[in-house]
Amino acid sequence: MCSGGCAKCLGITLIPLAVLCTLANILLFFPGGEVVNNNEHITDEVWYFGGMLGSGVLMIFPALVFLGLKNNDCCGCCGNESCGKRFAMFTSIIFAAVGLLGAGYCFIVSAVALNSGPKCNDGSKWHYPFENGNYLSNTTMWDLCKSPENIIPWNLTLFSLLLIMSGIQVVLCAIQVVNGLIGTICGDCTCCGGNGAI
Ligand SMILES: *[C@@H]1O[C@H](CO)[C@@H](O)[C@H](O)[C@H]1NC(C)=O
Repeated sequence: MCSGGCAKCLGITLIPLAVLCTLANILLFFPGGEVVNNNEHITDEVWYFGGMLGSGVLMIFPALVFLGLKNNDCCGCCGNESCGKRFAMFTSIIFAAVGLLGAGYCFIVSAVALNSGPKCNDGSKWHYPFENGNYLSNTTMWDLCKSPENIIPWNLTLFSLLLIMSGIQVVLCAIQVVNGLIGTICGDCTCCGGNGAI
């Protein structure tokens, strides 16, 4: 088992997810695909920047660190072939924890947003007409939102995508926490031709 190689493929997967989460968050600022002229008309959870900051910006650091692990300091320090590698794996645990927090934040914000539903205009005022996800199983209730057009499927799709993608990021970062622990304790076995401790 080579923990550096595992980290690299985790890093490669995290980057497109971070880009997609950022895009989904940006699209949420255009409810139903429209440009709104009043920020008050955008669902509050969109302003929590779960996709842009949590699953986007915060994820870039762990992704880059994981990507670099394979080639990082390959033949070690102090005459010990695996100690540089070990330190790199140890550092990756800290970055994996940062990623875990970011993705976890996006996951929670998306779940809350799906549960409370979008902010919309019911014909007289802007508010949240739904509660506790009751609109999810009863599409008749969707008529309560008169505008923006298609706000419910728009938010539902994008927040569901954010929920799924941040969920995957949480799992990947959790894998790297474990992976990094194994790498720190055992060294990376295949990096310098099998001199590691596993
Ligand atoms: C769905 O919502 C409508 C409008 O609020 C309500 O009249 C209807 O009883 C609901 N249907 C179900 C199955 O809960």
